[in-house]
Amino acid sequence: MAIVDQKRSALPVPYAMDPTLPDRVPKERYFDPDFYRLEVDRLWPRVWQMACRLEEIPRPHDFVEYEILDQSVVVLRTDDMGVRAFENACRHRGVRIVQGRGTCESGFKCPFHGWCYGLDGANSGIPRRKSFAPHNVEPGDVDLVPVRCEVWGGCAWINFDNDAPPVRECMEPAATILEAWKVESLRAEKWYAARLPVNWKLAIEAFVEMYHVVVTHPQLDIPGMRYSLRPGAPFDPRAFINAEIEYLQAMSDGMDGMVHANDVRVAEGLRGMELPADPELAISTWNRALNDAVMRWHRERRADIPDINELDEHGFNETFYPCFPHYFVLPMYSGASSYRFRPLGPEETLMEIWSLARFGEGEEPVTPTPPEVWECDDPRWPPIPAQDFSNIPRQQKGLHANGFEYMRLNERLEGHISNLQRTVDGFLAGLPYERLLPALHVVNVAPFDKPVLDLGF
Ligand code: FES
Ligand SMILES: [Fe+2]
Repeated sequence: MAIVDQKRSALPVPYAMDPTLPDRVPKERYFDPDFYRLEVDRLWPRVWQMACRLEEIPRPHDFVEYEILDQSVVVLRTDDMGVRAFENACRHRGVRIVQGRGTCESGFKCPFHGWCYGLDGANSGIPRRKSFAPHNVEPGDVDLVPVRCEVWGGCAWINFDNDAPPVRECMEPAATILEAWKVESLRAEKWYAARLPVNWKLAIEAFVEMYHVVVTHPQLDIPGMRYSLRPGAPFDPRAFINAEIEYLQAMSDGMDGMVHANDVRVAEGLRGMELPADPELAISTWNRALNDAVMRWHRERRADIPDINELDEHGFNETFYPCFPHYFVLPMYSGASSYRFRPLGPEETLMEIWSLARFGEGEEPVTPTPPEVWECDDPRWPPIPAQDFSNIPRQQKGLHANGFEYMRLNERLEGHISNLQRTVDGFLAGLPYERLLPALHVVNVAPFDKPVLDLGF
């Protein structure tokens, strides 16, 4: 259970998590400007950030701009279908050379005075070059500044720290499991964006535990469903199947994805199947039959899908895989939801939600365009995010109450919050990667209801 070494002292970070009380989160971590500043200086410059989905830049010379805090990065698809990234700042007087996204022919031209850069970021032209003093236009010193960029899991990732271990290594063990689940063959079908008036960690923490589900999402609390079965209570296989299908439908409608509508239809086709009277056997029989049917449906359409029964046998069947600090994949059957969070200020966050699905070759949807950013109370939100978004602005306000000092976490069900917060402290304390990497390997582990765990610091 709660296995934290109580002898270790707190890291030299203001409002640090107390290692002797890792189930308490000081409230200042969610709004204090100095704490936020420390994250800006010491966390975000050292972590892998999901910069874009690869289908946003499907062809050579396609580019997108990724913004984090006051930094802007151009992510470019190269001729060999690789990806590279540069700081989005002209070396002359600093103008951002691109805005948004697009396709370039042979490079970029700054809109101010026309300095040019090739696809490799090298400076390829300076109008009236000879009129500059030589020390200001020295070759090699006027190229776009490269940013580390790697591809993993269907996304391009950037990191401002050249010493960070590779992205895949930082995302373990989620990386291995998501690869086995063929995360890279998913395509974005829908894309939403929300402006949330809350701290970025508070936003994330609304989605990392199941403790809130019964109260916040009552439509998911369906009697007879596998999660509601009580040991020894009478079991009705027919009612069980109906409850499972009702749950899948509620998830699919509620998230506008995650459980793909096609998978719900596949499940619907199994409604009449016979199940054993023993609950455990019934659940495994149902799972296997639904997995088989979902795989068959996709293979008939030549969509790339792994053997999800085999993954179940390996325990690779959680519905939540975090990639610290700001990205999640939430797989269910053939599809997934995926989230990205970016701070816009101490108490403001941009959250994006993608609905990911598998398509046959040539059937992929068109490249998604960035969504309009909706406020969290926008009536267009699907029901599940709408319910989550109804709580967190109230929570952010409540944290400021004079008598409220710290969040008190359920150490068994809300441990992920403590693990995430203490990993943040590791970065803020400037720990070396030898010590951060093992912590990342603890925090990037499913499932939702995870206890407080030892991170090694
Ligand atoms: S600022 Fe880019 S060319 Fe002058
Ligand atoms: Fe929720």
